[in-house]
Formats: sequence, structure tokens, C-alpha cells
Amino acid sequence: MKRRRSVVTTGRTARDAYSGPPRLGLRAPRTRPSPALEAARTESPAAPVAAARAAAPGEPGVDPSSVDLSVDLAPRRPGALVLQNPVLVASGTFGYGIEYGEVVDVERLGAICCKGTTLKPRAGNEPPRVTETPGGMLNSIGLQNPGVDAVIERYAPLWATWRVPVIVNVAGESIDDYVSVVRRLEGVPGITGIELNISCPNVGKGGLQFAVDRDAAASVTAAVRRATELPLIVKLSPNVTDIRPIARAIEDAGADAISAINTLSGMAIERRTGKPLLGNVYGGLSGPAVRPVGLRIVYEVAQVVDIPIVAIGGIASLDDALDYLAAGAVAVQVGTAIFADPEVPLRIADGLRRYCAERGLASHLPLVGTALPARPNRPSAKGVEYRP
Ligand SMILES: Cc1cc2nc3c(=O)[nH]c(=O)nc-3n(C[C@H](O)[C@H](O)[C@H](O)COP(=O)(O)O)c2cc1C
Repeated sequence: MKRRRSVVTTGRTARDAYSGPPRLGLRAPRTRPSPALEAARTESPAAPVAAARAAAPGEPGVDPSSVDLSVDLAPRRPGALVLQNPVLVASGTFGYGIEYGEVVDVERLGAICCKGTTLKPRAGNEPPRVTETPGGMLNSIGLQNPGVDAVIERYAPLWATWRVPVIVNVAGESIDDYVSVVRRLEGVPGITGIELNISCPNVGKGGLQFAVDRDAAASVTAAVRRATELPLIVKLSPNVTDIRPIARAIEDAGADAISAINTLSGMAIERRTGKPLLGNVYGGLSGPAVRPVGLRIVYEVAQVVDIPIVAIGGIASLDDALDYLAAGAVAVQVGTAIFADPEVPLRIADGLRRYCAERGLASHLPLVGTALPARPNRPSAKGVEYRP
């Protein structure tokens, strides 16, 4: 019988799921997965992992310096995007990396996702553009950036001298926009990969975002895939009813990896006037408040794709990162938390190394996917299908 590709839930709890091996996807990969991903899938029975997670720190473990935190985000392109550790900085929250050079040892990051970059310079939205919210913030920066040519001229020469890979976050309003930007980035020293921000209005579809429509998401991914050999990460929006068909379409269209999530659509009211607070009316919600949504989306996507998943959304501590690994991500991005403390990403990477060492794990990969259903095809009325 043909195996169903859609997610079917199980009534088992995450703890029950530890009794089987971690699963990252339902389908046999069509291309050879990276050894790292393969290891996460097969080598580590989840029960010892659960025991390792529960083990008290300080018990005999391995030397932290011998823990291998490396992760391959483009297994279909061997060696093209292998990170030294799985903690990246999220687009729009770390500028072009250069701004933080004085405060943070950027070379120790897993990778830098730079600000959203468009074909032409963009001035961004009307102010006010940011406001604090309970457990997070709203932003409506509006992709302010100097345009791809200026990014290449101003920043790429310095990036080329860094060991840390820089992934350029690309935005556009049409497929032609995206393709033109990635064509310019192709072959530029200092640019290691592309992260496609598809949460932008698609002018060809009357303003509908590429990210909310399966066919539009597939079309833009396929067009960019044809235009570049660079590793391609496609970033998902949480503002959809069902992420799974969109994620599958993006994988089928040739993405090397998926990152999730972008911000949730929101707004705030200026109490004094009773009017919308943000100049743009709408803004993107980020920070700890969005973490449960990000977790749910990573958990769902991990069950329907075989490419690596990079988790984003409210990550501010090692515990947050561990939760996302358990939900099926192989790496994480830190965003809003950087505004309060730019050292957070490095602290998470160092903490993860110690965490693995103290529990006798040679790598973080055995921690990946431990929360996923052990028998994903078992039908249930609970869990992931809960949609109020
Ligand atoms: C001020 C700000 C600017 C952002 N700019 C971009 C952007 O240019 N491109 C993009 O894909 N995501 C952008 N994001 C979204 C973040 O990369 C991230 O997906 C989101 O904030 C969720 O992660 P967090 O809760 O850790 O911040 C931005 C977020 C913030 C707060």
C-alpha cells in the first residue's frame, strides 16, 4: 500500500515517542542525505537519548572540545553549507554581521543570515516601525536595505575574509525580482547561501504572499533553484492554515533546507488616539510569544520533509533550542533575543556543547526529532490535528 505523505497524528505523548528511534521524515530521501542527518535518523535509539537528556549535568561525560556540533544544511550539495555549529543569527536582527563585530565574536557563530535584500534599494515603511508586546515585539521595518548591488559592493569583500558563512536573505515582489537578485549573488566571494524570504507580496498574484500559496511557493523556489547553484534555504511563514503542503512543495521544487518561522501577522493600537500604532498598521510579531507556534510548525514540517529544518521563533536560551531540536530541527536561528543580548547565540552554542558533553553525546544530532511520533502513520484525533 502506498504510504501517505500527509501527517497523521498519534495519541502518544512526546515521552512515549522516546521508545522508538527519532524520525525526521516519512519518505525515503530521493537524494543521499548528509551523514550528519543520517546519523540523527538512524544511529541513535531514542531511549538512550531520553536517558541522556535526563542525566544530571556533571556526570561523567565526554570532553566538551570533542563534541562535534557541525551540521550540513545542504546535504544535496556536499560540503557547500556545513556549519561549525547549529546556532545561526536570524535575518533582520543582526544587520550584515559587521555592525556586531565589536560586541560579538561573529566567527564563532554557525552562520549569519543578513538583512532582507531586494533588487532595488528600499526605504522601508513609515515610522513608528517597532513596538514592544507581551512576550515579544512587533516590527514593520518593510525590508529597508540598500539593494543587492550595494550589499555585494559594501559587505561581501569583508564576508569573504570570514570563516563564518554568510547567508543572504533575499526578498522580492515577483519571481523575476528573486531570480535577478540571486543571479547577482551567484559566484560572489563571501556569499555562501541564500535564504528565500517568501513572505512578500506577489504582485503577479495581486499582493498575495508567495508563502501562503503552495503553487506560488513552489514556483518561486523552482525558479530560484534554476538560477543558482548556491545552497538554498526557503523560509516559511506561520500565517497559513496548513503548512505541510507548502513545505512539501518547496522541498519538491529543489530547496536544500527549510527555515521556519518568519513573524506572525499582528497589529497594535495607540491608546491615546485609538488609531493603529505602527505607521504600516500591520507588523510582524516575534520573540518568546511566538515560540509555541514555531515549535508546532517545525514539528509538523519535520514529519513531511526530508531536507534539514532550521528552527526560528522566540529562541532565547539553550532550553528553547533543545525544544526545537526535539521537534525535528537540526539547527536554530536566534532573532529578537539578540536585541536584548547579542551574546545569546554564542551562549546557546557553548551551552549545547556542554550539554552534549555532560550527557556523553558526541554530537547534538541524537537530540534531533525525539519528540516526533515514533509511529507517524498511526491515526489519532489528537495532537497535531488540533486546530481550533
Ligand atoms: C526587526 C526585525 C526585522 C526582520 N527582518 C527580516 C527580514 O528582512 N527577512 C526575514 O526573512 N525575516 C526578518 N525578520 C524575521 C526574523 O528573521 C525571524 O524569522 C522572526 O523574528 C522570528 O524569530 P525571533 O522570534 O527569534 O525573532 C525580522 C524580524 C525582526 C524582529
